[in-house]
Amino acid sequence: DADTAPTVTSPETLHALQSAASLLRAQQPVAFPTETVYGLGALALDAHAASRIFSTKGRPADNPLIAHVSSQGMLRTMLPASYKYPPTYDILMKHFWPGPLTLLFPTSDVVPSIITAHQPTVAIRMPSHPVARALIAFTGSPLAAPSANSSGRPSPTRAEHVYHDLNGKIDIILDGGPCQVGLESTVVDGLQPDGNLRILRPGGVTVEDIVRVLDEELSDGNARPKVLVHRRDYTDDKIEQAPTTPGMKYRHYSPSAPVTLLLTSSKPPQGEPLDGMTYIRSLSTHYHDATLTTSRCKIGIISLSDSPLGLATLPNDGTQWQRFLLGPKQEPAEAARRLFDGLLTLDQAGMDVILIEEVAEVEEGLAVMNRVRKAASELQYVSF
Ligand code: TXA
Ligand code: MG
Repeated sequence: DADTAPTVTSPETLHALQSAASLLRAQQPVAFPTETVYGLGALALDAHAASRIFSTKGRPADNPLIAHVSSQGMLRTMLPASYKYPPTYDILMKHFWPGPLTLLFPTSDVVPSIITAHQPTVAIRMPSHPVARALIAFTGSPLAAPSANSSGRPSPTRAEHVYHDLNGKIDIILDGGPCQVGLESTVVDGLQPDGNLRILRPGGVTVEDIVRVLDEELSDGNARPKVLVHRRDYTDDKIEQAPTTPGMKYRHYSPSAPVTLLLTSSKPPQGEPLDGMTYIRSLSTHYHDATLTTSRCKIGIISLSDSPLGLATLPNDGTQWQRFLLGPKQEPAEAARRLFDGLLTLDQAGMDVILIEEVAEVEEGLAVMNRVRKAASELQYVSF
């Protein structure tokens, strides 16, 4: 079973894991690395411990948490006795667990309602990061863990991000290096009576990957269930308003600097897009005048590295430009890995405004744009 998988070699790591596990058992929250983003963990089956997550993050009580398990055996302990998964879940778990995929299950008596925010379902995933897996296994209990940031801020992808945000509020941050995926897990609901899969939040496992494995496994003439992306393929007025729809109700992924999304591939509802470089020059004048100081205005630009914007020479007009590159167009996984780091790095550098260039909504790009749209307070149509 998966519990035997973590290999923990160095004595320092072992000691750190033991300290973190005893804090967790004493109902304290602990920050730890996962392959997606850093998590703020607490015992999932203990209402008091879980409540510490909400108070530490300033998280609204109606936003449910994901429980993390390290083995199929541990998953079983959270589910109703003799519960049988939908057949799609067997396929998804076989291909994507451990990994960046969260599945909804019917909840059971052992799961405190603070975790589910009184929903009839509980969200569960099995992370692949060896430190996360070892920590859960050492603690001997599922861990509830949202991203380890104050509510509303970008999710942390390095231990330093967690330290900067939650320093003084938690006793241990386990440092596992930079997160490989960089965006949160894909949240999937396969419990609907029609048997289709609904993607509530796009994430580290792409829609293309899910469709591919379903096609592979169901090639014997069975009709493949549909894979429906919330807001792209379906909307539901009820969940549109509900906090259980990830990121729908609350401010999300926002640094303190205002973020403007530059839409480069579509036409505005009216008129023509602005010329991109003219827009950028006007913006620097605007912020220069608005700050009314002699200090130079700071503009952060997050862009692809091989796009016209990424390759452009920025105006030499006294503005302090800071670029953060998301990698080449053809590698959306790289953009996913770097996005939150870019937002957090530019924010810490004190930008007056952060511009983010649109990426194509294919593969990991779908999740990247989902986060960017939520982080942005303004949209600007531009052409380069
Ligand atoms: O990659 C991840 O999933 C990270 C790492 C730490 O594992 N965790 C994470 O947790 O992103 P959080 O709390 O930031 O996001 C969990 C999302 C929430 O937006 C919530 O709406 C959704 O999952 N969720 C949790 N339980 C749910 C449920 N029963 N029904 C629908 N959505 C649920
Ligand atoms: Mg979060």
